[in-house]
Amino acid sequence: MSSPDTVSKTFTVATLLCLVCSIVVSTAAVVLKPIQKENQLLDRNTNILSAAGLMQEGKSVEEIFAQLETKIVDLDSGEFAENIDQELYDQRKAAKDPNTSQRLAADIDIASIKRRADYATVYLKRDPQGNLQTIILPIHGYGLWSTLYGFLALEADANTVVGLGFYEHAETPGLGGEVDNPKWKALWPGKRLYDENFEPNFRVLKGRVDPNKPGAEYQIDGLAGATLTSRGVDNLIRFWSGDHGFGPFLKQIRAQES
Ligand SMILES: Cc1cc2nc3c(=O)[nH]c(=O)nc-3n(C[C@H](O)[C@H](O)[C@H](O)COP(=O)(O)O)c2cc1C
Repeated sequence: MSSPDTVSKTFTVATLLCLVCSIVVSTAAVVLKPIQKENQLLDRNTNILSAAGLMQEGKSVEEIFAQLETKIVDLDSGEFAENIDQELYDQRKAAKDPNTSQRLAADIDIASIKRRADYATVYLKRDPQGNLQTIILPIHGYGLWSTLYGFLALEADANTVVGLGFYEHAETPGLGGEVDNPKWKALWPGKRLYDENFEPNFRVLKGRVDPNKPGAEYQIDGLAGATLTSRGVDNLIRFWSGDHGFGPFLKQIRAQES
């Protein structure tokens, strides 16, 4: 005859079960952490390459990514910051820390990001002769429901768009989520951020771009039924192409390339 259930037995079994489960969960978290980090890095690199149209069939992401130069830029001066280790620098983390970021005044903060990191990580693609081909910039800004994080790739003129892609957002699928639609993203290559005086001039329209009207090269169609997300994309492109974003850096690039 087995002994009857007692309160102390129930507690003992429950405690042991909790202990075993917590050991399993924490061991899994520790063991899987490096794999998670590796996958996050792979995902980020895939997004960088996709925005720049550099993905190639038959070649691994690591192989193609190794051809890019990763640089840290001082956003205020627009110069490369050689004293910061790009392997360790995390721009998103830096943007939250008052010691490594600056609070943006309401009239400047058109992308609704509140704080901007002092330094940004950019990626450069050069041809075999060492000539700059593509500049890939991290961008982010608020849409309707969420902050959209992505990359914008430009040609060596620091003006003409090569491509754009968002890798994180929580806009509504079918509405604001159409920022991920390949058909919409295909409208971006060839568009220009700056006018002939190098003033930021890019706009996401409400509605469609009329290709016969002057200025069409600075405009992109808005997303149907998602004016607020479209406005968010418009705001974030204007912020990051402006004086408080990558404006000073792109000015330096233009001076070097011309
Ligand atoms: C459930 C729900 C989700 C929505 N999600 C989005 C969204 O992700 N992005 C967006 O711009 N508008 C979204 N909208 C629509 C906005 O409220 C707004 O009506 C729309 O941006 C206006 O765009 P339109 O002028 O092109 O119609 C959503 C509406 C509803 C009811």
